[in-house]
Amino acid sequence: MLVLGIESSCDETGASVVRDGRYLLSNVVASQIEIHNRYGGVVPEVASRQQIAAIIPVVETALAQASCSWEDLDAISATYGPGLAGSLLVGLTVGKTLALARNKPFLGVNHLEAHMYANWLRNEPAPVEAVAESAKRDQPGDPLFPLICLVISGAHSEIVLVRDHGDYQLLGRTRDDAAGEALDKVSRVLGLGYPGGPAIQRMAQQAEDAYVAQKKTVKKARNAYRLPRAWLRGTYDFSFSGVKTAMLHLAEGATDAARTLQNGKPATQYTRYTRMGEQAAQEGAPDVALLASGFQEAIVDVLAVKTRMAAQEYQVKQVILAGGVAANLSLRARMRQELDPLGIRLSYPSIDFCTDNAAMIASAAFFHLSLGEHHGMELDVQPGLSL
Ligand code: KG4
Ligand code: ZN
Repeated sequence: MLVLGIESSCDETGASVVRDGRYLLSNVVASQIEIHNRYGGVVPEVASRQQIAAIIPVVETALAQASCSWEDLDAISATYGPGLAGSLLVGLTVGKTLALARNKPFLGVNHLEAHMYANWLRNEPAPVEAVAESAKRDQPGDPLFPLICLVISGAHSEIVLVRDHGDYQLLGRTRDDAAGEALDKVSRVLGLGYPGGPAIQRMAQQAEDAYVAQKKTVKKARNAYRLPRAWLRGTYDFSFSGVKTAMLHLAEGATDAARTLQNGKPATQYTRYTRMGEQAAQEGAPDVALLASGFQEAIVDVLAVKTRMAAQEYQVKQVILAGGVAANLSLRARMRQELDPLGIRLSYPSIDFCTDNAAMIASAAFFHLSLGEHHGMELDVQPGLSL
């Protein structure tokens, strides 16, 4: 089954042709990162205008790169939520219109579910023989149910028990900021730009490499600025706003300007982290790379420990990571450390499939379409859609 996937939920415009939910024929992503970097984050109005400009060339390129004609396609799919309404509308409208014009089945895809299905995508050519075989729903090498999926993106941080295709139980979610959101906001405060995750990862790596070169441990680098963790014990929920605020106070304490509010009065919020920042400033300047390392560690620590606990409680044999933050190398390494001793398998998509792309949309669509599901033209965007 050949499926065209379209993704436009935020600031990336994607189109991709995928065979049998796993094998990539093409994967085109037009990114707006440079535009949003100027503002330090995604501006919704700008994002939807960019989607309009990019969508048709992106779809045409995806078909051309796949050497695929409209006749070859078995179905068309597009993200219908969650995401920014204006951005979602562009991809969904184009997807529905193409399906209607070309007389193909249409399927709207949940973006979060698609992040999970990025784990089914393979970096290998489709098998030439045994086409019927490769179209089966479950294949050797696919993730094994039941599993725990940690969904970590710019807007979501959730631990989900997945019993089978489409059978989800939400075990916990963030009560405030998503992990990616916290990384993006702190990156902005540290002057590291957007998107924050990769920038913080790079700086953290720099700090940790420097420590190793000085014969000090990586752990020491990560603890140079020890930031708070919200464990929310007894739940699988997360909270990342506290560590974000601590970081903010630390940065404020370190800069003269921030020691006073705009009206010249001393900061009302004076915490141990403000003091930590002041101290660092007195000893020179706080090392941004070490701050990045401490912050990344605080986030990775909580994500890894709580996901491991869920895997143990629900006795699953596999944990999968999904969403943009799953690209984080420090998180991947830490998850392995947590799971390897328990004999629990860990998998994650290749880096390109972690952040927003349309291949994962086509993959998720395949698993629904193979059950005979499809949507009518009345399907509307659902910006607040959950799993
Ligand atoms: O899944 P995604 O591309 O978009 C949403 O659906 O939100 O995730 C974007 C998020 C951003 O917050 C970005 O900073 C984060 O993923 N991210 C990373 C890395 N690459 C992207 N976070 C940590 N480490 C990375 N290497
Ligand atoms: Zn996403």
